[in-house]
Amino acid sequence: MSIDTIDVSMKPNNKRNIKAAITGVGGFVPEDFISNKDLEKMVDTNDEWITARTGIKKRRILKDKGKGTSFLAINAAKDLIAKKKINPESIDLVIVSTITPDFHGASTAPTVASAIKAKNAYAFDLSAACSGFLFGMSTATSYIESGRYKKVLLIGADMMSSIVDYTDRSTSILFGDGAGAVLVEPSLNGYGWEDEYLRSDGIGAEWLNIKSGGSLYPISNETIANKWHYIAQDGKTVFKSAVSEMANATEQIIIRNELKSEEIKYLLPHQANKRIIDATAEKINLDKNKVLMNIENYGNTTAATIPLLMYDYEKNLNEGDKLILAAFGAGLTWGAAYLTWAYN
Ligand code: UT7
Repeated sequence: MSIDTIDVSMKPNNKRNIKAAITGVGGFVPEDFISNKDLEKMVDTNDEWITARTGIKKRRILKDKGKGTSFLAINAAKDLIAKKKINPESIDLVIVSTITPDFHGASTAPTVASAIKAKNAYAFDLSAACSGFLFGMSTATSYIESGRYKKVLLIGADMMSSIVDYTDRSTSILFGDGAGAVLVEPSLNGYGWEDEYLRSDGIGAEWLNIKSGGSLYPISNETIANKWHYIAQDGKTVFKSAVSEMANATEQIIIRNELKSEEIKYLLPHQANKRIIDATAEKINLDKNKVLMNIENYGNTTAATIPLLMYDYEKNLNEGDKLILAAFGAGLTWGAAYLTWAYN
């Protein structure tokens, strides 16, 4: 859609009695990491290429056997609970956005809710890959706006190392493990979730996926021999779509909220590739120093990238700051959101 066709009336009904706000942030990344130099010994690549083409220097890896995505999510949630000093029993709902659940069938969120003693909560997983946090925020804010829930814990968590083929240089250089958690509550000061523009297109499912393990290709000797249990992508095609759709969604959200570049405090973009982030910032004429990044240290942690940005940069965020979030990922899924930060 070009700018000419943006229709301000498409903006969701903003006359909400209750506005939802992020009121706390937590995060967790494992200590172990794989550097670009380490990767040079594993696949045909080099530090210079990875740095120039992606902006990534290292990615955190959960090496402990017997620990999965729930371990990352539980630690991020515990960090938030300790910082905010909240009683876990006051949490109504726990959502874990992930594409690397501990198991298929039993979702990961109930494991997390039990581990943090959120015994009055119900819990479910949400699968939207790299857009998982944005789609999760849409869900969490809707629960709050409904008036039926007061405290929603949303965690973006992925243990990408569990699905990466470390002989494939098109994916092993990109992904890392991590988790970021946010608490979503009714806003007390008028700041919070303002608007969102979310989209998906199944036509691109084939460009980025883990082919086996689902109902279409149940795991078999053949799928294992084909390495279909690993994440695979058509990097160039995904890259092109990411550049155009993330930039377009960001532009849509800015124009329909009548925001000027100078009013925006920060852009918090999904951390997939620095070149995709730079292209998005350029499209909306945003100064480089307004673009938050931590891709250098973590790589692409899928659903965890945006909450980990909030975690790393929480001290820079102040009440009333106008923030833009943007993401693009498998599905295909993508979108952008506008929020005003609710606390100092
Ligand atoms: O978050 C979810 C969505 N995922 C993404 O957004 C990822 C999107 N894709 C990408 O980030 C990029 O496509 C990659 C980082 C995966 C690849 O970067 P690229 O700039 O698209 O590289 P390319 O595949 O076009 O390859 C360019 C050159 C080729 O060599 P020739 O043919 O020009 O001689 C490749 O063989 O770079 C070579 N190359 C590499 N060299 C060293 C490709 N991968 C590597 C590598 N190390 N890892």
